[in-house]
Amino acid sequence: MVKEEKYRQLYTQIKSVAEGESDSIAVMANMAAMVHECFGFWWTGFYRVVDKELVLGPFQGPLACMHIGYGRGVCGTAWKEHRTLVVPDVEQFPGHIACSSESRSEIVVPVVQNDVVCAVLDIDSRELSTFDAVDAEWLEKIAALLPALPSPEREIYLAAGCFWGAEKYLKLIEGVTFTEVGFANGNTDNPTYKEVYTDQTGYAETVHLRYNSSVVSLRFLIEMYFKAIDPTSLNKQGEDEGTRYRTGIYYVDSADRAIIDEVMAAEAKKYGLPLQVEVEPLRNFYPADEYHQDYLDKNPNGYCHLPVALFELAKKAKDIVRQ
Ligand code: SME
Repeated sequence: MVKEEKYRQLYTQIKSVAEGESDSIAVMANMAAMVHECFGFWWTGFYRVVDKELVLGPFQGPLACMHIGYGRGVCGTAWKEHRTLVVPDVEQFPGHIACSSESRSEIVVPVVQNDVVCAVLDIDSRELSTFDAVDAEWLEKIAALLPALPSPEREIYLAAGCFWGAEKYLKLIEGVTFTEVGFANGNTDNPTYKEVYTDQTGYAETVHLRYNSSVVSLRFLIEMYFKAIDPTSLNKQGEDEGTRYRTGIYYVDSADRAIIDEVMAAEAKKYGLPLQVEVEPLRNFYPADEYHQDYLDKNPNGYCHLPVALFELAKKAKDIVRQ
């Protein structure tokens, strides 16, 4: 039977096994078993993204290394580059991790959910050049059958003065996967920009961030946030004045509080003055009109209270925790 036909049947079988099952490990285990059995590969299995590394399991085949760093080996590279890697000869892949000396060729398919790599599917063969674009296409389809995996994606809301510049700056930081601007922690329903502008609604111009916590830590994001504000200035950033331009860190996960407090304490020491940054759980958030989203991308010469040098800094910034 040709490879395509084998994959077609295998896909249908895996689909029916996965259907209705919400436990990702259980489906991974059966998926690895079925792929392995169907083709008689040497090693077939998963590494899951756990914190800042890949952790082994479930798999079929001989024992394998249990932890792989970001950007390391074929698996860590597929994770970093967000793409399937077909390796015809493992000896030719710089940094290949040889869990077994029998392995000659390899394919690694990232498991991507909501734009974030949550795991990789890794297959090893004892022959050279076992894998090609057909394997890549079908294994990607098979990996897409997995139920939701624990996601390393987290969120935080940061008020840093005018949200046009703040969004542009924060979205440049590696690991930030999504941004939107809006109004946080105010007292009215569905506030418009005009209403917030009166300074009577209690809302702060705020950037809602989602970030991949396996790439960037909350600590690093908050430290970067501090580089873009004057934390000693009450209700004023640059030329923008009013409670709507106050600085604030609004969290949705109470576990974030301790990290935020630690960074706040370190910053307070630097300034030797009381900080005016509000730290509160997020009470409410309303996205602003489309006109305000990615405003400076749409209007490169638009008003911005932040200096250009900050954007260069954000582009180059890498969370040292991962280095
Ligand atoms: N060769 C892999 C390591 C995992 S084993 O193949 C099971 C790599 O270079 O990432």
